[in-house]
Amino acid sequence: MIILAVETSCDDTCLAIIEAKGGKNPCFNILSNIVSSQTELHRKWGGVYPTLAKREHQKNLPFVFKKALKKAGNPKIDIIAVTAGPGLEPCLWTGVNFAENLAREKKLGLIPVNHIEAHIFANWLKPIRKNPKTIFPAVCLIVSGGHTQLILMKGSEKYASGNIFSSVKYKILGETRDDAAGECFDKAARILGLGYPGGPTIAKLARQWKLQIRNSESQKNSKLNIKLPRPMIHQKNYDFSFSGLKTAVLYDFKNRSSKTKKAKEYIQTMSAEIQQAIVDVLIHKTIKAAKNFKAKTIILGGGVAANNQLRKQLKEKAEKEIPKTDCLLPDNKYCTDNAVMIALAAYFQRQKMKNKNWKQIQANANLRIDEKL
Ligand code: KG4
Ligand code: ZN
Repeated sequence: MIILAVETSCDDTCLAIIEAKGGKNPCFNILSNIVSSQTELHRKWGGVYPTLAKREHQKNLPFVFKKALKKAGNPKIDIIAVTAGPGLEPCLWTGVNFAENLAREKKLGLIPVNHIEAHIFANWLKPIRKNPKTIFPAVCLIVSGGHTQLILMKGSEKYASGNIFSSVKYKILGETRDDAAGECFDKAARILGLGYPGGPTIAKLARQWKLQIRNSESQKNSKLNIKLPRPMIHQKNYDFSFSGLKTAVLYDFKNRSSKTKKAKEYIQTMSAEIQQAIVDVLIHKTIKAAKNFKAKTIILGGGVAANNQLRKQLKEKAEKEIPKTDCLLPDNKYCTDNAVMIALAAYFQRQKMKNKNWKQIQANANLRIDEKL
């Protein structure tokens, strides 16, 4: 089956064509994967400006579609998938309208996809060798620019007789009460004058700081003494809060001399501390949830899942504290927004919905993973 998927929930215009083979234990072949980034356009705003992003999506989609078809060798498409939510409402509608028109024109079926569920399914791109029955219950940590959620993913007994995903159920255990983890990276980077998106830049500077520490003794005696809070880390719930962390960065920055603010040592040390503060909270709550719900798997997803320290430290801590629990980490390339993950989610979604086809799709900016599409 050939699936064409469209993703326009935020600032990237994404289109992918994949081939799914193998029924209950599918394997996926990516025929084309186009991500047309609007990052440069939004850089000067320090974040995504929705109406501007919508206009760009409208402009980009026809070109991206042609490019994806050509790259894939003009295959015969069987079904069209599109992100229905959550995301920025004007951006979502652009993708939905494009997919609907295409489906009508080509007389093809249409499948709406939940963006958060797609981030989870990005992990199924590489074959998962273990017996599917040993995956659930799973605790999913979805961390992106718009979301930070801990989700319990369960498969019912039905999976003995069919595809495991036809019986998957979700429960949101906790989420951020204010800023998402990626948003915190982005806002902190803006304070430090590092531009958008902040996550990859902060991660790079933190890596440089680590190298410095390894190479220079004097760095250990740094007088900077930056210590940021780990918000809500000791609270019993699974919620997060990152806006206080961003404010702490702002206060520290404001209180430094203009010479210090510009110094490489300050920016690198601060970047390393921001990253570690975010990583500490995310890992602490994820491991706690995995222990409490006796998770067989921890599943990571979303743009922040590309962060090397988050990946490394989560794996290390899980191996030490809950050695029987596996960690699924998506390939770095498929952590940030892309349409391949939308196509994968559509494949599983189709089995869950017993091949139901949609004529019209409602974009929903606040769509929840436990909500019907
Ligand atoms: O999933 P995504 O592409 O878009 C949303 O659905 O929001 O996530 C984008 C977010 C941005 O906030 C970006 O700063 C963050 O992911 N990000 C990272 C890294 N790469 C992207 N954060 C930390 N470390 C990274 N390496
Ligand atoms: Zn995303």
